[in-house]
Amino acid sequence: MALPDASCVLYFDDEAAPAQRLAQAAGLTAQAIERHRFPDGELKLRLPVDASGRLPQRAVLLRSLHQPNEKLVELLLAARTARQLGAQHLTLVAPYLAYMRQDIAFHPGEAVSQQVVGGFLAGLFDAVITVDPHLHRIERLEQAMPVTQAVVLSGAEPLADLIAQRRPGALLVGPDGESAQWIAQAAARHSFDHAVCTKVRHGDRNVAIELPALNAQGRAVVLLDDMASTGRTLALATRLLLQAGAASVDVAVTHALFAGDALQVLTEAGVGEVWSTDCIPHPSNAVAMAGPLAAALHRVLAA
Ligand code: R5P
Repeated sequence: MALPDASCVLYFDDEAAPAQRLAQAAGLTAQAIERHRFPDGELKLRLPVDASGRLPQRAVLLRSLHQPNEKLVELLLAARTARQLGAQHLTLVAPYLAYMRQDIAFHPGEAVSQQVVGGFLAGLFDAVITVDPHLHRIERLEQAMPVTQAVVLSGAEPLADLIAQRRPGALLVGPDGESAQWIAQAAARHSFDHAVCTKVRHGDRNVAIELPALNAQGRAVVLLDDMASTGRTLALATRLLLQAGAASVDVAVTHALFAGDALQVLTEAGVGEVWSTDCIPHPSNAVAMAGPLAAALHRVLAA
């Protein structure tokens, strides 16, 4: 897949492997941004310029935004510098987009991080490509991130393909109302029986879940969600489904955040297998997203 100009995929050294996969799928070259950390913690970046000290007119930056805080500073430094070095069109490929869950001030004075971080990234990039951003109270990414081109892909269908192979005839369950959108996409693709739980969150590691009306007796259940963070949501849903007679419960998520003891908590709850997309590198990765990301990149760069 050749592109009209000499666009390149810029990346940081900790994402060399996904950058190479994306560049190969898109027919682009991948070039590393050098990063130096000063003794006091500040960063210095050096972008890969050509012999005349310039970047291509169109540049792509790959940065999946798990553990996002320092990466946001990297993006600020890299994007502003790329403009100075000749890049006129900048695309951010962020397979995981951080801060999308904090989309409302639940208490007076709280930051609505979705809007703040979305606005910040829109000020740096012309286009953003991401996968399953957590859009709950808004419908389109542009409402949080007003870029010229916003492309949202989903892991639900490729995960559904995997589930159909590994657990044909599975009962697909979403652990909360927000997962209904991904459950609907996955169920439509393979005609899975499906249902969605209701959840109330009381704290970071404290949720209450109610199962929907379903007959889980003897069924192979797969819990599908956009992400697992502490794993408490999926762990509680698993316990309830096993108590309701499920023969097995496996887990499929787009974003494998799995903070702290999340995987251990899932295992202790009785989860069998855990599958994820490679939007966030993790041992559970079972679905590659380089192909869909590269196709989206072509659409963005051709526009
Ligand atoms: C929120 O609704 C998300 O879709 C996930 O359900 C949530 O982030 C999972 O969090 P945790 O794994 O910490 O329970």
